Amino acid sequence: MLGTAQLTVTSSLTALRLFLHVGAATIWVGGQFVMLGLLPTARSLGSDATKQLARAFAKLSWPAFAVLVLTGFWNLAALSGETKSTGWNMVMGIKMVLVLLAGLGAWLHGRATTKAAMGAWGSIAGTASLLALLGGILLIG
Ligand code: HEM
Repeated sequence: MLGTAQLTVTSSLTALRLFLHVGAATIWVGGQFVMLGLLPTARSLGSDATKQLARAFAKLSWPAFAVLVLTGFWNLAALSGETKSTGWNMVMGIKMVLVLLAGLGAWLHGRATTKAAMGAWGSIAGTASLLALLGGILLIG
């Protein structure tokens, strides 16, 4: 006997909320890893190339970060109280610390004057962003 396949379609407002949140995450997190991958090539293009690429990326990454924070609060408002167990709230708290660290790390990375500081803040921003992404997956309600 053939079973009946059921397709659940997410409501359009929920789809928009998650599309904006996840879409912005792909730019903020993915972009940092693309920049890391392009670094050796950028360095071979001249002494100023990495700076110019970083400046161009900042014009994409900071608006994406702003969209992440705005839609993050939208997520919080949209989820019902039942979803927010003690464990859920703990993961949310850890994710907020990671988001702050990601933003602060990226900001200090952009202002660093030594290569060591640039590398350290860049690594902190990248790692915190990746872990915030994992936190987001754990929060799906
Ligand atoms: C670096 C920044 C961030 C990244 C990379 C990120 C990533 C993600 C991802 C991938 C999801 C899973 C979405 C899904 O498919 O359902 C998610 C969910 C979520 N995020 Fe974020 N997020 C960030 C910032 C924030 C902020 C600032 C807040 C709160 C102010 C927030 C609150 C939430 C909530 C509540 C959910 C669960 C949404 C739901 O299940 O409907 N996020 N996040």
